[in-house]
Amino acid sequence: MKVAVYDTHKFEIPFLQKENEGFGHELKYIEGRLTKDTLALSKGAECLCCFVNDKVDAEVIKTAYENGVRLIALRSAGFNHVDVGFAKSIGMKVVHVPEYSPYAVAEHAVGMILTMNRKLHKAYNRVKEENFSLDGLVGFDIHGKTIGVVGTGKIGKIFAKIMSGFGSEVLLFDKIPDEIFAKSITARYTNIDEIYKKADIISLHIPLTPETKYLINETSISKMKKSVMIVNTGRGKLIDTKALVRALKNGSIGFAGLDVYEEEEGIFFEDKSESGITDDCLARLLTFPNVFITAHQAFLTQEALHNIAHTTLESANDFENGTHLKHQVPGT
Ligand code: NAI
Repeated sequence: MKVAVYDTHKFEIPFLQKENEGFGHELKYIEGRLTKDTLALSKGAECLCCFVNDKVDAEVIKTAYENGVRLIALRSAGFNHVDVGFAKSIGMKVVHVPEYSPYAVAEHAVGMILTMNRKLHKAYNRVKEENFSLDGLVGFDIHGKTIGVVGTGKIGKIFAKIMSGFGSEVLLFDKIPDEIFAKSITARYTNIDEIYKKADIISLHIPLTPETKYLINETSISKMKKSVMIVNTGRGKLIDTKALVRALKNGSIGFAGLDVYEEEEGIFFEDKSESGITDDCLARLLTFPNVFITAHQAFLTQEALHNIAHTTLESANDFENGTHLKHQVPGT
């Protein structure tokens, strides 16, 4: 099957190549993101293989369908960037990779917490410059602190389990609680307001939906403990960034660890070191010493890249052979 792989990055090509040895698809790697302007680059393809910042809106889906595309294969779990309803209405199939390594994301969230708390990024730079002073590097014990886990699906559960291993009190929030899981790690489900009130660290693991957009906003921040640490490896728009910046300025938020940013499209995954960034909000965030940003990197492990490549190419194979699509996006 001819597959146009949009927004291809150097780090994933070896995994796609290796996995494709077993499938034999004709892969065309396209560096740029999918938009209506770059759609022409996929001429002749039956499958568009997309990443998190590709623009898979109704206009793109319609034109792609007219060009002969019948399958959109997302190299991601999230599908908030796809007009799912429109795809269904015209019979465009959409598949995703629902699970590639929840460990990768959960472990990255924990890494961000340790980095911010123990200031490892600063310590590394200091020691490299032969500055062995410890002033300004004081952290806190995570043991005994209260951790709020918002969303206890695949990633949230692993994160909660790791944090319970620190000897922390783990509070869980999910619209579909899993009491057996909670019991297994001696955690408990509660409402979101108790998490805001009691948690020293809040980590977001829910999908972006109309209901969860800007969950973290001026009002929710006002309910939180002063100096709380917020970690977001979910999606950028779970946080109203302007409200976050105000809270960082007045000290009501102590730390923010962000692997996702609401306007990351066109910035994350790109080298902007020559051109600089024009996004004032991101530029302001980068000035805070207590903000730690990674560029949507939480998934980036060998295991995850292998699983993404395998599941995506297998879905293309199933589609080509007319067999059941195991990983169809709900609603398509
Ligand atoms: P999942 O589908 O297994 O879990 C999501 C959980 O959120 C479910 O338990 C669901 O009941 C809950 N939920 C949904 N809406 C809710 C609401 N309004 N209120 C309360 N709970 C709600 O998803 P998974 O695999 O754990 O991933 C979570 C999110 O992490 C994804 O949606 C994605 O946006 C993000 N992600 C980020 C990555 C990164 O590299 N930074 C990589 C992979 C996923």
